[in-house]
Amino acid sequence: MIAPMGYPEIQAEVRGRMTVKLEDETAGFWTLQRSEDMQNWQSIRTMQAKGGAFSYVDPAKNKSPNFFYRLVNSNSLANVLVKEDPFSFQSAVPTSFIQRESVVFTTPASSGGGGWAGNNGVISDSVTIRQEVFAPEAPIRPDTVRDHKAFLGRVLFYDKRLSADNSMSCASCHKQEKAFADDKALSDGIHGQKTARNSMPLANMAFAADGKFFWDMRESSLRDTVLRPIENSLEMGMDLKQLPEKLSQQPYYAELFETAFGTPEITEDTISEGLSTFLNSMVSGTTKFDRAQFIGRRHFSALERLGETLFMGKAGCAQCHSAPFFDNTSATNNGLDIIAEDDGMASHTKKEADRGFFKTPTLRNVALTGPYMHDGRFKTLDDVVDFYNKKIQPHDELDPAFRVSDTEKTPWAATNVKQRETVQLDLSKQEREALVAFMETLTDHKLIQDKRFSDPFKR
Ligand code: HEC
Ligand code: HEC
Repeated sequence: MIAPMGYPEIQAEVRGRMTVKLEDETAGFWTLQRSEDMQNWQSIRTMQAKGGAFSYVDPAKNKSPNFFYRLVNSNSLANVLVKEDPFSFQSAVPTSFIQRESVVFTTPASSGGGGWAGNNGVISDSVTIRQEVFAPEAPIRPDTVRDHKAFLGRVLFYDKRLSADNSMSCASCHKQEKAFADDKALSDGIHGQKTARNSMPLANMAFAADGKFFWDMRESSLRDTVLRPIENSLEMGMDLKQLPEKLSQQPYYAELFETAFGTPEITEDTISEGLSTFLNSMVSGTTKFDRAQFIGRRHFSALERLGETLFMGKAGCAQCHSAPFFDNTSATNNGLDIIAEDDGMASHTKKEADRGFFKTPTLRNVALTGPYMHDGRFKTLDDVVDFYNKKIQPHDELDPAFRVSDTEKTPWAATNVKQRETVQLDLSKQEREALVAFMETLTDHKLIQDKRFSDPFKR
């Protein structure tokens, strides 16, 4: 048995039945060839390696015991990918993302209990939040080249060959049914390792607040960001320098890169452009909340309406998680711990004032992306609301929005940790449920079923 790649072996051979074992966990396609003289090779059959093996009965084997066999990589586009109608990755920006006028929410002063400490540290029952006018450029313009790049990106996103041992793809930690986040607190990385932080959802990257990526905001361009997990030793552990060569051994990539870039040559740059174009095409704006921007709140339950009022007003959530993406351009400390184990933004800025600062994540699709926070410490949205309701910790760098103290007379940093008072929302059970119900209106069921973003490989 001779093979160009891997070290296949014939495991058992009983009357012509061969079980060929391959080091190919990627369900690749192989053509079994046979020869009597090692000069002329005859293709017998193309098969898919399932679970790193396949078996085959060669009827001719009984006639001549002197056959040599070899395997040839047959990962052509037609073999490897699910056959689908050609489709376009172009998406318009949902109108609800574009707010031409500022929207002002005011909560009634009598909505009961607690109150919200604004930036000046004064608790008030009534808070006005002005949302910013947001008018992004269309992320994907009508243009077939972009479609081809996005399609290439989709294949790369789901291809386990991007990891050193062919065990992981981007989709291993960014699952479509979880709005491209992971359902584990820390994801399983390469060689049985765990990631350092909770995986993040990937829709609407084209509108990413301030273009800062990762929980600690350490990257400032999506083109760079998409390459980091590939070389991260906990995640995919692949030497980026060797990746173009590795991918070029797969016949299907020649065709995909050629169509996308006009040349079959693969570089780190074209890999990153493919991946980021794919991510930029994931626009997610088909939610109950988005619908409400046109038809009002008729389709909202009373609980959802109460939740929205609280979110935008008394509970203060929208101060940081602001519509339309329910995220924020700046990182902050939301008081998870008194002493944060993970330095967050300070781990790369090295500034004391950035300790425990994390990206304010989007809450779009949040009902699907649990567990929550940078370390996945909260299993459910109830746990999250419970935390904001009563358990905000007086970290040195806690966001001023959560502090109750006269910051002019006694700067927060000068007070003893024990004397520092944090906001207590004191929400009733119904109000807590309402906040969760409102967050559930941010789920885009279309995104998680959209074929354009699904696994294109035959598995
Ligand atoms: C082993 C799990 C794992 C794999 C594989 C993985 N990621 Fe991630 N991804 C994560 C984690 C964890 C984070 C958060 C990391 C951090 O903040 O330090 C993340 C964050 C990101 C972000 C930042 C999102 C934001 O809002 O800032 C992008 C973009 C991303 N990943 C894209 C990719 C792409 C593209 C691939 C494949 C090339 C990939 N990921 C593979 C786990 C993974
Ligand atoms: C002062 C800014 C601020 C306010 C106000 C705020 N948050 Fe957050 N929120 C954050 C930050 C920062 C994080 C990420 C923290 C981390 O992981 O370390 C976060 C994380 C979350 C998460 C987890 C998302 C995920 O993908 O893991 C949810 C859910 C959430 N907030 C909901 C709310 C709700 C509900 C309110 C109102 C009761 C609220 N937030 C108020 C800043 C804020």
